[in-house]
Amino acid sequence: MEFLNKEFKMVAKTIYGLEEVLSAELLKLGAKNIEIHNRAVSFIGDIGFLYKANLCLRTAMKILVPFDSFQISNAEDLYSKIKRIKWEDFISSNQSFAINSVVSSDIFNHSNFPTLKAKDAIVDRFREIDGNRPDVDTDDPDLRINLHITGQEVIVSLDSSGDSLHKRGYRDKTNLAPINEVLAAGLVLLSGWEYHQPLIDGMCGSGTILIEAALHANNIPPGYYRNSYAFQKWKNYDETLWNLIYESTLNKIKDREVAIYGCEISRNVQRKAVENVHLAKVEDVVDVKTISFQEFDPPKRRGVVIMNPPYGERMDKEDDIIALYKSIGDTLKSKYDGYDAWVISSNINALKHIGLRPSRKITVFNGPLECKFMKFEMYRGTKKIHKLV
Ligand SMILES: C[S@@+](CC[C@H](N)C(=O)[O-])C[C@H]1O[C@@H](n2cnc3c(N)ncnc32)[C@H](O)[C@@H]1O
Repeated sequence: MEFLNKEFKMVAKTIYGLEEVLSAELLKLGAKNIEIHNRAVSFIGDIGFLYKANLCLRTAMKILVPFDSFQISNAEDLYSKIKRIKWEDFISSNQSFAINSVVSSDIFNHSNFPTLKAKDAIVDRFREIDGNRPDVDTDDPDLRINLHITGQEVIVSLDSSGDSLHKRGYRDKTNLAPINEVLAAGLVLLSGWEYHQPLIDGMCGSGTILIEAALHANNIPPGYYRNSYAFQKWKNYDETLWNLIYESTLNKIKDREVAIYGCEISRNVQRKAVENVHLAKVEDVVDVKTISFQEFDPPKRRGVVIMNPPYGERMDKEDDIIALYKSIGDTLKSKYDGYDAWVISSNINALKHIGLRPSRKITVFNGPLECKFMKFEMYRGTKKIHKLV
């Protein structure tokens, strides 16, 4: 693992649509040579930066460390080129590993096949040099390997994160459609919300957007609640350095007065949100009420609304969904003068029934669903200006 003693390239994977905010996060954190790709941002840093990136990045799903790449023309080629990597530098034969493959190649018509070929190559290498073989453990391996195969090109990476970084560790109660924590954090960052403004999630469900906003406002790292990362099992793991980075990050936590409100129409779901807010230890800045968005009276100062209403993917009747979006628009017009309102939905037809002209439209993916995240600027005093003229 000598290549990790100097600066090296890393790739932070993300959700489509969040690449720009992730690169801004990386810049702020001190990354070098930042480059934006599709659902990923690459950068340069040292091992301490790798620890920091895993702990602090709100919009990264995983941090990979690519360390080998080559061309293949068939499956045997993959086997022999994986076998020639010095895997004994990474793990011992009494340890375990797991391989995750992302494949887009005519060479393989089944994405499991390259994973099996690579596994055989690693196991056979150990058998030949050592007589023993490491185990495959997909749950809690000592080394996580990532293969990215595009056409004939193979990139071999170490997965430094392990479980996806959206698994923050604060949420155990979910409603029917919780938003991914990374997406929630991304929406907050995309909205441009500043922590001195009130923030309202008018349909907050289990409270993910509220919690991610609170963490962001008070500099609480998203990895604060998490117990482990894959890099902590690496041979070169430097626990002293990790503790130093963890402590210095925690020292930057603020105690700002922030006003974050959640409305949720279902009493049961609101209770789950309250529990999650408590688990995330942000109850002093987040207030979740059992109330409809339409009935809620927002603070009378310029703020931001971020909303993830139902999309009508389930049993909801299309007419009900249209009526709901129409009432979102009516409520914004009547109560949210001066606010910036952002709504995310995959239901483009329903979004049109909000009846306001969006000033921005950003495409993001919520799981497999292509969504629009639309901004509506509810300008204060437009009517007054007319009167003055
Ligand atoms: C897609 S979910 C939001 C998920 C949320 N972002 C999360 O991470 O859990 C939509 C939520 O809006 C709530 N809802 C529907 N109509 C509402 C209304 N008029 N006012 C407030 N909440 C409403 C539903 O009960 C549901 O929990």
